[in-house]
Formats: sequence, structure tokens, C-alpha cells
Amino acid sequence: MGIPGIEISDSDFIKLSRLIYQHSGIKLNANKKSLVRARLQKRIRECGLSGFKEYHKRVLEDSSGAELIHLLDAISTNQTYFLREAEHFNYLMETILPRWQQSDDRSPKHLWSAGCSSGEEPYTLAMVLSEFYSLAKLRGKVKISATDINSQVLEHARQGIYPESRLEKIPSGWVKKYFQKGVNRWAGSVRVKAEVRQLVDFFRLNLMEPFPFRQPLDIIFCRNVMIYFDKTTQEQLVQRFSQTLKPGGYLFLGHSESLAGVSHRLTYVKPTIYQK
Ligand SMILES: C[S@@+](CC[C@H](N)C(=O)[O-])C[C@H]1O[C@@H](n2cnc3c(N)ncnc32)[C@H](O)[C@@H]1O
Repeated sequence: MGIPGIEISDSDFIKLSRLIYQHSGIKLNANKKSLVRARLQKRIRECGLSGFKEYHKRVLEDSSGAELIHLLDAISTNQTYFLREAEHFNYLMETILPRWQQSDDRSPKHLWSAGCSSGEEPYTLAMVLSEFYSLAKLRGKVKISATDINSQVLEHARQGIYPESRLEKIPSGWVKKYFQKGVNRWAGSVRVKAEVRQLVDFFRLNLMEPFPFRQPLDIIFCRNVMIYFDKTTQEQLVQRFSQTLKPGGYLFLGHSESLAGVSHRLTYVKPTIYQK
């Protein structure tokens, strides 16, 4: 017996997945049909529509682009957590930051969390930097941009409020230093302290569109995002990341992502870390 709800035909699935690919680079193969069905049913009901064919038509006809944003919000996978893939943060703390400190170059550093989801990754970066430089000395020294295609997760990220249970991987000293405990109706939640939130600039950016940065960047974290793209899209994106980095800048990818089979000009540093 199938899951109750609105059925999706093969042809409607193909039309929707083409539209999603065209706009976000997210590649949905036939095995993702039930995922698309499950994730879009609620939105179809909210729109008062009867099925996927009508929904596809609605997205195409909405010249404001708002329904396309709803579609991409519903489809994107946003799983993330604080200190995810901790080796990356260790490498930053033990190798990159000491190198920056020893260098004569005192210009401000710019880090980018590309595909930041609900903010745990850029906030982890902010905490690691604060551990190294101390919060008071960070302002003006470092800038963190954090972007995502999904407007709902970005709103969550800006708020910086998480269930206390999400702090499992964070050292207890950091919890005290960087989080505020919720009371009364916020009991059981924590909020990233304002001084840390202020270090991160969140904005919506579809990675398929031009990047808005005026100056080259020092570090790009694009982790667990490219797995949703096909090889051609990955290759184009890595080339654009590479053009956006300063010479000597770093690109970090997620642990299940590698640049094997992707043509690029970066130097391999260690698994999932590349340097320009
Ligand atoms: C699984 S999360 C990864 C979050 C975080 N980087 C981490 O590793 O924990 C993938 C994120 O990529 C975003 N994403 C997918 N396609 C995108 C695109 N074309 N442009 C920008 N963000 C995209 C999704 O919305 C989602 O929040």
C-alpha cells in the first residue's frame, strides 16, 4: 500500500525535476520521485491546488518568482549541525590561522559558508575564529558571509535559536561562552550570543547565479551541497570558486565529496581540502 496523498505521474515528476535542475542545479533522478512527492504535497495543499500538474503550471505562471522560491525551499535538503566534520575546523585552527598570524599580510580575512543551511556551519566558524583571536579582537579582522538558496533556513540562521540538544558536539566551555540559555517559554532552547551572530552576514544566494563578492576570498566552505549537483554543474561551480579565491585561499568540501573526475586547477591539500 502506498503513502496516502496526492499522486505524482512520471511526466509531472520529469517536468518538475527539470525546472528544479534549471534553477538550482539540484539533480533529482527517478529514485527521488517519492521524495519530491512527499516534500511538495503540503505546499500544493497550501496553494489550494489539486495536483502536481497544476502546481508546475502555477510555478511557471508566477512571474514574481515567489512560488519558485517556495518550490526550492521545499526541495532542498538542509541537514547540518555544529562542528560537523570537526577535522576541517581543526585544520583551520591548527594550520591556517597560525599561518595568517605569522604572515605580514594584515588585511581583513573573508570567509564564505556557501550552502550554510540553518547557520550551524558559519557560527562554528565564528566560534573557532573567536577561540583563536578572542571575540573582542575579531571585529574588523574577519568577515563571514553565509548564503543559501533556501529562504526559510536563512531566517532560522539569522535568529540563531536552536534546541539545546543540538549542542551535543560543542565543547562545554564554548556553550557557556557563545550561547545564551533560554528561560520561560524559551526553556530548552539556546541562542547564539549577539557578539557571535554579528560576525556572520546571512543572505540568499543561488550558487547557479553570479557571486556578489567584490574582492577575492580567503576561505570557501561548500560542504554537503555539491552532492546534489551533477558533474558538469560541480565542475562549473568549482571553477567559479577557484576564480573567487585569493591565491593561497582554501576550498573545503564535504566528506563524501571529492574532486575526482572533476577538472580543476586547485592543489590538493588533504581529503576534501584544496588550495588555490
Ligand atoms: C545538507 S545542507 C549543508 C549545510 C552545511 N554546509 C553542512 O555541511 O552542514 C545543503 C544546503 O545547500 C543548499 N543548496 C542547495 N542547492 C543550492 C544552490 N543552488 N544554491 C545555494 N544553496 C543551495 C540547501 O538549501 C541546503 O541548505
